[in-house]
Amino acid sequence: MQIKKLFLQNFRNYESEKFDFSEGLNVLFGKNAQGKTNCAEAVFYLCTGTSLRIRHDKQLIRIGEEYAHIAAEAENRYGKVTVEANISEAKRELRVNGAKIAKNADLMGHINSVFFSPGELRLIQDGPDERRRFMNVSISQTSPTYYTALLRYNKILDQRNALLKNPDISLVLDTLPVWDEQLCRYAATIVKKRTEFLQKLSPYATEMHAYLTDSAEELALSPDKRYGGEEAEIAELLAKKLAANYEKDIRLGFTTVGPHRDDLSVTVSGVDAKAYASQGQQRTAALSLKLAEVQIFKELSGEYPVLVLDDVMSELDLRRRKKLLRRVEGIQTILTCTHAERVLYGADCNKIRIENGRIKE
Ligand SMILES: Nc1ncnc2c1ncn2[C@@H]1O[C@H](COP(=O)(O)OP(=O)(O)O)[C@@H](O)[C@H]1O
Ligand SMILES: [Mg+2]
Repeated sequence: MQIKKLFLQNFRNYESEKFDFSEGLNVLFGKNAQGKTNCAEAVFYLCTGTSLRIRHDKQLIRIGEEYAHIAAEAENRYGKVTVEANISEAKRELRVNGAKIAKNADLMGHINSVFFSPGELRLIQDGPDERRRFMNVSISQTSPTYYTALLRYNKILDQRNALLKNPDISLVLDTLPVWDEQLCRYAATIVKKRTEFLQKLSPYATEMHAYLTDSAEELALSPDKRYGGEEAEIAELLAKKLAANYEKDIRLGFTTVGPHRDDLSVTVSGVDAKAYASQGQQRTAALSLKLAEVQIFKELSGEYPVLVLDDVMSELDLRRRKKLLRRVEGIQTILTCTHAERVLYGADCNKIRIENGRIKE
């Protein structure tokens, strides 16, 4: 997978700019607050239909303008593909090869990317929210079924949580089983897909970690809860758990069990990484997870995703930087940093200097 060109119009601090990316390493460099992350964000948006930095699409529109237009010309295993987004305050329109698409689920998979920023380096030490997000974003890109199940699950979950706050307890108790049946159906899809994902991801993450630590440490991944194998079994077990927690859920006013509360557990040399690993070890583990994600995409879709490394080099020590660069050879990479020469060590790359929302030659 490769992005050839990226067009940004009225996007963030860009007025109008065109990027030509090469197939290997592309380095966007420049001072702070010039638009490097904004460019990376546009790539992520065209892959997923969303951004991790915003609450409302409006924030993406250049201040003082009415709309933003972004587009990428890419090439995946099926051939050329163009993905566009037209964003105005009132609505957002996505197009793939010129044809309007109705929902995000249909966007996923046309251009796949693995996005890596300093936030992801905290993947291990942060709360379970971050790790769930990691799984959700990653699995959604290769499984529209997962993405759709997740949306529906969250919607029903919101309704269930609203119901739990209703003062009419007998109504609540009568209605809960109805919600729960639907909730468990989507939950089962989510749990099953996550389990499969982690099963695939785990050996890659272990291998990456061994590579990064010169086999000094062993990393292992697993879901933090066990639900059983097939979807029917998972749904049944979860229904029982939900029923067993009615009283607690009503008292607290929210749903206390289900995939929205699940986590993934990471151990380094047999010890829980979140609780016991040093910050350096946690970062290496996070890096291993992200690089393993790249391999998963390769395995699932037959080609490498585009790797976006936003500002991560400065957070890694020299040895890991070099290892990282060596590992991403052959994968189209968009890397942002403030000082190109300090992170590249003469690596062959396409350098693009960004200044105030513009490419400077
Ligand atoms: N909607 C917007 N309109 C205009 N400028 C914006 C908008 N959103 C962010 N910016 C500007 O973009 C700059 C930050 O760009 P960013 O890509 O995060 O910088 P960096 O090069 O450090 O990664 C800031 O100066 C910010 O004010
Ligand atoms: Mg930045």
